[in-house]
Amino acid sequence: TTDALTFAHTPNPHPTDPAKRAEILADPGFGVHFSDHMVTIDYDVEHGWHDAQVLPYGPLAVYPGASVLHYAQEIFEGLKGYRHADGSVWTFRPERNAARFQKSAERLALPQLPTDLFVESLRQLGTVDRDWVPDPEGEKSLYLRPFMFATEQFLGVRSAQEVKFVLIASPAGPYFADGVKPVDIWLSEDFARTSLGGTGEAKCGGNYAASLEPENEAHANGCAQVLFLDTETHTNVDELGGMNIMFVTDDNVLVTPKLTGSILHGVTRESLLTIAAEDFGLKVEERAVSLDEWRERVADGTFTEIFACGTAAVINPLAALKGRTVSIPAARNTGGEVTMGLRKALTDIQFGRVPDRRGWMV
Ligand code: COI
Repeated sequence: TTDALTFAHTPNPHPTDPAKRAEILADPGFGVHFSDHMVTIDYDVEHGWHDAQVLPYGPLAVYPGASVLHYAQEIFEGLKGYRHADGSVWTFRPERNAARFQKSAERLALPQLPTDLFVESLRQLGTVDRDWVPDPEGEKSLYLRPFMFATEQFLGVRSAQEVKFVLIASPAGPYFADGVKPVDIWLSEDFARTSLGGTGEAKCGGNYAASLEPENEAHANGCAQVLFLDTETHTNVDELGGMNIMFVTDDNVLVTPKLTGSILHGVTRESLLTIAAEDFGLKVEERAVSLDEWRERVADGTFTEIFACGTAAVINPLAALKGRTVSIPAARNTGGEVTMGLRKALTDIQFGRVPDRRGWMV
């Protein structure tokens, strides 16, 4: 049984030189450097989860016939390790990521990794590579990337009977190169990332692959992220290429698109709704937001702030919405009080600067 799984350790014989590591941690960027180890756990239908290992970070041996390379049977998660002032290292609500990983697995016909094994893998990697968790200055953290994919070799299309789970870690600074500054976003008028009944609420690589060409279009037009509309009416806001979106009104309402089936169930999204309601006394509305409402309420000043949220980006203010046929200017107070207040409230919990009343830190 999975409860009995013990992790075999193979220490990296050539760990990164401490001076080099310090240099990386001083300015890690996002997702370009990796820690010295990784976790792998294998699965097959006959044995279940087995062979849990902590290994030197390095290339994986995958056969060209592995079905993930052909049919994209893959899911992933994203969460962070935060260093607190006393040196201890924490993750934020990892059981929420474990639960979403299980939901994603269900949608992609992959086996479910039990929550305790998911969390234990974080603990194992966080322990051997604890020196890779940056000091909290500048809100740097160690981004943890669990993923799972089909390793079985076959070209017939069916769900794989052999699967690998891997966890890697990458020191992270701000997701956007310019730090926490308002960014313009680009409306994808020609493409969708998913549709109702599709894989939109699963965190699978394919959703992100589908966002890349629209994202290139965004970048070519000076925008940092692409915005997708719902695929049924093409009028309501769904989400950005890699994060959820929220609107603040002049009468203290936090509005975000409701989870219709094509939107990712963001852990940051969910946590901000709780913090907003409980700690900020904001009214929280999960409902459809149309482009028309966006345009009108920026114009009359009743949408005061708009921001993106996700684990990687935390909270980032959004400025103008641009598109082939659409142009909505920035809201009047974008990057303002509520956006930065929520950002501080969330990161204060994550970095242990305030008591963790809800028991979110593990
Ligand atoms: C996240 O971890 O926030 C993601 O959704 C993945 C990606 C945007 C880096």
